[in-house]
Amino acid sequence: MKIIVAGGAGYIGSHTVKALIREGFEVIIFDNFSSGKKELVIGGEVVVGDLMDKESIRKAFGLKDIGAVLHFASLIQVGESYVNPQKYYTQNLISGLNLLEVMLETGIKNFIFSSSAAVYGVPQQLPIPESHPLNPVNPYGQTKFFFEKILEDYERAYGLKFISLRYFNAAGADPEGQLGELHEPETHLIPNILLFLLGEKEGFNLFGMDFPTEDGTAVRDYIHVTDLANAHIRALKKILASPRSEFINLGTNKSYSVLEIIKKAEEITGQKVNYTKKPKRKGDVPVLLASKQKAEQLLEWKLKYSNIETIVETAWNWHKKNAGASP
Ligand SMILES: NC(=O)c1ccc[n+]([C@@H]2O[C@H](COP(=O)([O-])OP(=O)(O)OC[C@H]3O[C@@H](n4cnc5c(N)ncnc54)[C@H](O)[C@@H]3O)[C@@H](O)[C@H]2O)c1
Repeated sequence: MKIIVAGGAGYIGSHTVKALIREGFEVIIFDNFSSGKKELVIGGEVVVGDLMDKESIRKAFGLKDIGAVLHFASLIQVGESYVNPQKYYTQNLISGLNLLEVMLETGIKNFIFSSSAAVYGVPQQLPIPESHPLNPVNPYGQTKFFFEKILEDYERAYGLKFISLRYFNAAGADPEGQLGELHEPETHLIPNILLFLLGEKEGFNLFGMDFPTEDGTAVRDYIHVTDLANAHIRALKKILASPRSEFINLGTNKSYSVLEIIKKAEEITGQKVNYTKKPKRKGDVPVLLASKQKAEQLLEWKLKYSNIETIVETAWNWHKKNAGASP
């Protein structure tokens, strides 16, 4: 059976493509390479196309025997979404709607969506369960929230079946060293520390020392990208076997402050991380921590790589190997 992976040339998509191929699925990567990278395509058939262009989506769907669609393709920078909300609402919503339209035209009903913990906004309860109120605090998070609402309406009206996976902080790299993070610009903490240590970034900024947390820095739930990829396999098998729509957190129920991550990076790399203190970024909440009960029970999924040492080590190995090649 063929699986369409929109955004399969990106960070999380490429790790999921690797897992899909290992599981024997035939993969069609649909990507416009706006942030995706050739280096992250290690298998599968590639259709270069843009989700804003329905004809190019139809071309990919013209390939027969498609069982499901995994949708990773979106703009992902929270900061940019404040400055240019129009870009985010247009790209993230219209492109997703186009994808759903072609799915309905071709009778494909199974859909896995890359959502985000950003749908919750400022947590009222920790760890955050899926039933937590949804109150996103930035345009990026709003696009994920609105798209989840669209999915619910499409299920009601057209029988679409979806699993919306709400990722917490994706981090780490393929343990076999084939894949890793190559965002441009990089806004995530761990790669920014490591790229700074490799001399690929001029400075390292620590945003916010006055959060209401133990050491004053923001606390996040980091999940290894290979564990995320494996959760997609479980979700896909689940929806193919018994189509039912769900919202599911993907996190670890463990969290680390920025200073704790810096300390881990120093231990693993043997280098000192000198940082520049900067004010909090708009929309950064103090703490994110996932309840992972639903994912474990419903997907029968277990974390394998998400201890913080493995996350930082695999990321470090990837960035060292790619030093000089980073965007
Ligand atoms: N990285 C994280 O920590 C994180 C956390 C929560 C949710 N997510 C979500 O996971 C998904 C994947 O994130 P990522 O970090 O792998 O991002 P990424 O930028 O590495 O990957 C996105 C991919 O989608 C492609 N793409 C974007 N717009 C497209 C379009 N219009 N048509 C075709 N292809 C297009 C890009 O070229 C890229 O290959 C996103 O939806 C993101 O919002 C990521």
